[in-house]
Amino acid sequence: MKRLILIVACLVWFGHEATQAQEKIDFQKSVLPILQKSCFECHGAEKQKGKLRLDSKEATFKGGKSGSVITPGDAAKSELYRRITLPASDDEIMPNEGDPLPKAQTDLIRDWINQGAAWPDTVVVKGADAPAAEIAKLPEHKPSANELKAVADLEALGVSARPIAMNVNWRQANFYLLGTNATDKTLAPVKDILGLVDLNLAGTKITDSGLASISNLTNLARLHLEKTEVTDAGLANLKGLKQLTYLNLYGTSIGDAGLEHLTSLTNLKNIYLWQTKVTDAGVTNLQKALPKLDISRGWDLNVVAKEKPPEKEETKK
Ligand code: HEC
Repeated sequence: MKRLILIVACLVWFGHEATQAQEKIDFQKSVLPILQKSCFECHGAEKQKGKLRLDSKEATFKGGKSGSVITPGDAAKSELYRRITLPASDDEIMPNEGDPLPKAQTDLIRDWINQGAAWPDTVVVKGADAPAAEIAKLPEHKPSANELKAVADLEALGVSARPIAMNVNWRQANFYLLGTNATDKTLAPVKDILGLVDLNLAGTKITDSGLASISNLTNLARLHLEKTEVTDAGLANLKGLKQLTYLNLYGTSIGDAGLEHLTSLTNLKNIYLWQTKVTDAGVTNLQKALPKLDISRGWDLNVVAKEKPPEKEETKK
């Protein structure tokens, strides 16, 4: 009898060990590809439906219009998990188009959240800020000594200009995390980082004169200036940024005069002008100059009209 108990105990113990080991979810290998394939289209660089971005750690844990979407350690309390496990007929199910995620995938996400939702800082999200296809199109970039020194200077100021993917020298820098501690002075080193393709200055104290530091960054493809103090005059610094495809000016005092500085940016695909001073006339002019540009003047109408159910304004694609 004693022996039997021992055997059973061993089996239970080993069984426990085995499942523990086997269930440890690797975010990059198992979870990220699901988000990439099924969610980035609407919660990525181009669109942020429900004000939610799932293509960076900071953004994901910041959550969407109704707050945090992941409660590490508790999938049952996580809006993200709830959304992907709703019945297919539910209006709130995610993805909100196409087939629901297979159970194997929702289980993986559940286990990942229950295990603490670890998102290692080393993870490089391809297809987020710099889609793989776009990286592939870029020629090789060989940074000068000056450029590498500027990267180090920036690092010392608390901002890392990280490569956008493995084995490339194209970089992205995010000042957003410094918030109002980021000033024109903090931005100064970027003038030598010619390999910068993605720059986030949202919510910082950058001003028009700071923007002079980026006027030579001709490789820049994406620029976040939302919620900064930049004005119409400052946008003159963007005139030469011919590779710019994305520009976010939401929550600034930009008006029609500012838009006139942008008419030569023929690669621009998306511009965000919500809560600015632009008028219909200014937008019409810009659209005439850049017919293919997608101009967004109210990228989340939910915030403006809270009482309406979200699906209404969001169903249009
Ligand atoms: C085709 C577009 C589309 C895709 C793909 C999509 N979503 Fe959404 N998502 C939306 C829209 C629209 C909203 C806002 C309306 C709503 O809240 O239902 C939203 C809202 C959300 C919210 C709520 C955000 C908040 O704070 O209210 C979560 C969580 C979410 N999505 C998760 C996901 C996940 C996870 C995936 C991938 C498995 C995904 N979505 C794929 C369109 C999409």
